[in-house]
Amino acid sequence: MTSPRKIAAPGRKPLVIGNWKMHGDVAFIESLLAGLRKGWRQRALTQAVDVGVCPPSPYIGLAAARLAGSALSWGAQNISAHERGAYTGEVAGSMLADLACTWSLIGHSERRALFGETDAQVAAKVEQALASGVTPVICVGETLQERESGQTEDVLGRQIDAVCANLQDASGHYVLAYEPVWAIGTGLTASPAQAQAAHRFVRNRLLAGGVFSASDARILYGGSVKPGNAAELFSQPDVDGGLIGGASLVADDFLAICRAAAGVA
Ligand code: PGA
Repeated sequence: MTSPRKIAAPGRKPLVIGNWKMHGDVAFIESLLAGLRKGWRQRALTQAVDVGVCPPSPYIGLAAARLAGSALSWGAQNISAHERGAYTGEVAGSMLADLACTWSLIGHSERRALFGETDAQVAAKVEQALASGVTPVICVGETLQERESGQTEDVLGRQIDAVCANLQDASGHYVLAYEPVWAIGTGLTASPAQAQAAHRFVRNRLLAGGVFSASDARILYGGSVKPGNAAELFSQPDVDGGLIGGASLVADDFLAICRAAAGVA
């Protein structure tokens, strides 16, 4: 099946990022990285899609070593809001840059909900990422209760407004990810129309916040993306790829999603 191609603004090359969360060990990650490299070569996925993976932080160096020289990029699932210093357990943007990380996820709903990350901390992390030359992948999304009570746009608006000042001069070196909390790891997915409406809202809100590069910004959809639903989601005009959790731990599934993003599924 070939997914419908859409006309994307220049600069909005499809992007797929795997969020491995707190899964894996050296043996598992070696084998997943080998599967990705091999599958990538065999399926000639070079030009049409950008692809990255975000391993747990102790394994970023391993991913960097194994993926160096390939078309695949890597990144982190989090970044410190501080530049350097006595912050036990934190990882600075400069350290991620040192490991040649392209991406850092910021404000994932699990960080917001389980670790109390606030909009202000998200903004500080975005600032650190940009200052370090690491592309922030800023995650926003509403809970089921917020959606059902008609607050989706209020929540997304608040989360976006918190980072507009950081992004005004970022000239496109940032990515947004719309991840409805109720779709993460649940098997529930936003319908293509729901995803499109939220993505359009996010883009317009950025523009309204003075982030004029937002027309060209990539906005990823995340939340139970699988090989079977990826092409339809990615065919929406404001959906520029995906942030993939569970399915990114299976090389063939992740590669199938990358192919859907490239329009060659
Ligand atoms: P999921 O996770 O694909 O397992 O739903 C997505 C995410 O949390 O980024």
